[in-house]
Amino acid sequence: MILAAVLGDPISHSRSPRLHGHWIRRHRIDGAYVPLHVSNDDLLRVLDLLPGLGFAGCNITIPHKEAALAVADQVTDRARRIGAVNTLTFKDQMILADNTDGEGFLSSLDAGADWPKDRPAVVLGAGGAARGIVDALVSAGVPEVRIVNRTHGRAEVLAERFDRCVAQDEAELGDAGLLVNTTSLGMEGQPPLDLDLAYLPDAAVVTDIVYTPLETPLLRAARERGLATVDGLGMLLHQAVPGFEAWFGVRPQVDADLRRAVLG
Ligand code: ATR
Repeated sequence: MILAAVLGDPISHSRSPRLHGHWIRRHRIDGAYVPLHVSNDDLLRVLDLLPGLGFAGCNITIPHKEAALAVADQVTDRARRIGAVNTLTFKDQMILADNTDGEGFLSSLDAGADWPKDRPAVVLGAGGAARGIVDALVSAGVPEVRIVNRTHGRAEVLAERFDRCVAQDEAELGDAGLLVNTTSLGMEGQPPLDLDLAYLPDAAVVTDIVYTPLETPLLRAARERGLATVDGLGMLLHQAVPGFEAWFGVRPQVDADLRRAVLG
């Protein structure tokens, strides 16, 4: 039996057990994926114990994404650039660490829309989620990534980490090909994001990492403006693919069945 887990604090809200559980059943794998509530103090001890208990790896979520980077024996270039990890694989007595958030974001975007890669991208927010997305956009060859954040200093710090990135006070949308919300604005219980989309070119694509609700006020405004949109659930689903493949040996599909299973 192959085991995998997601480690976080809190952990009860995580949709990852449902997601991986769906794939385990679909592929008739003798395995299980379990949520583990792990405090900061226990993280190292738990990571030490898991391989011996039959765990092939785990996902890492808030608040351990940076701490797990520090304990890994091997870290992918992208995880190092981002400064955080979300996927650990236990192999040959070593911990291999990766960050698949950016890949998940790009896969979701590519699957959901024909977005113009030759135009500037505008990223709203400068937190942990923005780092993975900015790295993915720069790696995808976008000519410029404009970071707009409530706290301008954080946008500047993020822009300095990556090539072809600038921090802006106000979103310049007139020539943009992509608008991405990485803040929690628009999430259930949060205020909506207030941005005038009138100046976005008709070919621009709007996407959100928020997926509760699936259609955020930003995505609704974009749709009403006639723009293509991609919701935030796809990123969650696609970021899980590399870990599942590494642990269970099958590359799983992201499809409508999976979306239904995760939304439950
Ligand atoms: P995550 O890891 O999910 O990105 P985070 O690091 O806490 O979480 O970042 C949250 C992002 O949402 C930040 O860019 C934050 O802006 P600040 O850097 O100014 O805090 C942004 N954010 C959260 N609530 C916001 C609000 N009410 N208005 C504008 N931006 C907000």
